[in-house]
Amino acid sequence: MSALATERVLEVHHWNESLFSFKTSRNPGLRFRNGHFVMIGLQADNKPLLRAYSIASANYEEHLEFLSIKVPNGPLTSRLQHLKVGDELIVGQKPVGTLVIDDLNDGRNLYLLATGTGLAPFMSIIRDPETYERFEKVVLVHGVRTVSELAYADFIQNVLPKEEFIGELVQEQLLYYPTVTREPFKNQGRLTDLMLSGQLFADLGLPELSAAHDRAMICGSPAMLEDTCALLDERGLKISPRQGDRGDYVIERAFVEK
Ligand code: A2P
Repeated sequence: MSALATERVLEVHHWNESLFSFKTSRNPGLRFRNGHFVMIGLQADNKPLLRAYSIASANYEEHLEFLSIKVPNGPLTSRLQHLKVGDELIVGQKPVGTLVIDDLNDGRNLYLLATGTGLAPFMSIIRDPETYERFEKVVLVHGVRTVSELAYADFIQNVLPKEEFIGELVQEQLLYYPTVTREPFKNQGRLTDLMLSGQLFADLGLPELSAAHDRAMICGSPAMLEDTCALLDERGLKISPRQGDRGDYVIERAFVEK
């Protein structure tokens, strides 16, 4: 199989002026683990301009889905934001990444900790029945600046629980905790602060984080990763040292500068 495939845009959704997502066709030969990322992009000046994007759709779906910010003057996103249904998108055929549940030790609760577009890989992971087989509760925490950045909030709360394949598992096991830092909202503050204060656990009715029963996956900016890793390390959770080796938590950078 060649390293790059050309897909067609099937749907584009703009969440606000700086955040959008899109669905494309999928080469049926493209295999991936939920949580993986691929290189995607466009032809620019007769060569492919590619960046890493987490796949937000699940590996059993017929299409691919991606979530992107619009970076002012970003070489790729300043073009990507104009995508229309029917346009071509280049998709790399070698999905990879460290945000996979295979690399987590067994445990009771799985915390998916995301800020901004770091949500994308977890949209794939919360649609994976294996996630619910391995963990009793799956807690998706999404931290953003403004309410309009809570992409997929309605889908997670109102559509996913009714889906035929995965809905019942979602209803029983998924806890969604959106939090906003720069506007009033029912949950406010950085996810790190909410964990440190214990507010997040109190709100969810779960015990404080413990290496004995909790596992985590983290995806966000470099600063968010650093602070969140420090917090988990402090609680005695051990990071997976490399892909293929298990740990109590795994991390991936949200691919922010595009
Ligand atoms: P804040 O508004 O307090 O900066 P960004 O768009 O900058 O990546 O931020 C997305 C969300 O992540 C914002 O709510 C932001 O909060 C939060 N955030 C930024 N840095 C950190 C960090 N080091 N730890 C936890 N959350 C963070």
